Amino acid sequence: MASAKGSQQAQDSLGQIGAHFTQPISPLRLPICIIKLSRVFPQFVHQQQKRQFLLYKVNSLSCSTLETQKLVVRALSTQPFSPVDMVKAIRVHELGGPEVLKWEDVEIGEPKEGEIRVRNKAIGLNFIDVYFRKGVYRAASLPFIPGMEACGVVTAVGPGLTGRQVGDLVAYAGTPMGSYAEEQILPADRVVPVPDSVSPVIAASIMVKGMTAQFLLHRCFKVEPGHTILVHAAAGGVGSLLCQWANALGATVIGTVSTKEKAAQAKDDGAHHYDSVGKDTFQGSLACLKLRGYMVSFGQSSGTPDLVPLSALAAKSLFLTRPTLMHYNVTRDELLGAAGELFANVASGVLRVRVNHTYPLSQAPQAHADLEGRKTTGSVVLIP
Ligand SMILES: NC(=O)c1ccc[n+]([C@@H]2O[C@H](COP(=O)([O-])OP(=O)(O)OC[C@H]3O[C@@H](n4cnc5c(N)ncnc54)[C@H](OP(=O)(O)O)[C@@H]3O)[C@@H](O)[C@H]2O)c1
Repeated sequence: MASAKGSQQAQDSLGQIGAHFTQPISPLRLPICIIKLSRVFPQFVHQQQKRQFLLYKVNSLSCSTLETQKLVVRALSTQPFSPVDMVKAIRVHELGGPEVLKWEDVEIGEPKEGEIRVRNKAIGLNFIDVYFRKGVYRAASLPFIPGMEACGVVTAVGPGLTGRQVGDLVAYAGTPMGSYAEEQILPADRVVPVPDSVSPVIAASIMVKGMTAQFLLHRCFKVEPGHTILVHAAAGGVGSLLCQWANALGATVIGTVSTKEKAAQAKDDGAHHYDSVGKDTFQGSLACLKLRGYMVSFGQSSGTPDLVPLSALAAKSLFLTRPTLMHYNVTRDELLGAAGELFANVASGVLRVRVNHTYPLSQAPQAHADLEGRKTTGSVVLIP
């Protein structure tokens, strides 16, 4: 946090830098000077935007004498330190229930080479966030900021980066984790531009869930007319999109849900048959496959399935896979292809995105409790 003490130190260091200017600096070297200043005290000019503004101010001085440069440095050193350095975010310090999600001030830093800084407009909630919060999947360190999906506006770009600029609306899914924040730093090659036809809330609702549906239906197993597929949690975030998309591909869709209300939604999304299993579905799913049937186990909302002996597959020459979105979007081309197809399906109306629940980001604990408590349907979005 930019404390009063830190602020005083910053002003002192900038004052010292000013005093060390012993010869005039050519206008050509001024940009370097400003960048050096920002390195000496990054909190002061940590945003590219702000740096560019300062650069503009310095360059606009017609006579670049030693005195004017000292003035500029002194002027910079007297500018107030704004809390813009800090953003609000949800952090996890210890693994556990929804109550471990804490609303805090965090320092995000500035984008380095190949990175951008993004102000999130909407953040998608996914079951994987629950796994990380509980420790089913391990975060690299504690504390960590959860979240693997968001849509926002670029507020700064790292040095030398081309192809992305301040003001771009972008969205991402997957790593790095950390979307439960007002702003975050992202590798520029992990974001995709969001077309005008897709709102930030919709984009944040479909990046993980929709691209999961895309790889499951097209690349994990190619679903075609005549196929019959069984979708568990058919009224959930992924489930709703899976049912609609598979239906549009001409498949017969069997959905499982836990309530009548969820069944009505799944039916509306194109599921043709229902079954209220909803939990511990693994063995039942294997059992209902036909000869040479294909089992895709892509989640574990009700817990991690037991180990499967090969003999269980041999009984019907079954195929079994446990895929992950990240492994299907490894290259930039795969990512752009999946996102492009998804956005096109939203624009054409093949997919009606159900954003059935929005919460302020600070209320993430409640959102987690509701998702885990099977109270939600469709997509859940957190608004910073
Ligand atoms: N492999 C991948 O790359 C990938 C990517 C994205 C998502 N996923 C997986 O896809 C699944 C759906 O994710 P989502 O974010 O869209 O969540 P979701 O389906 O919206 O929510 C979970 C739903 O699962 C059902 N469920 C069954 N047993 C449950 C239990 N014991 N506890 C909680 N829910 C239970 C509930 O529906 P009913 O009440 O109708 O049973 C619940 O509403 C998750 O398992 C997730 O891990 C995998």
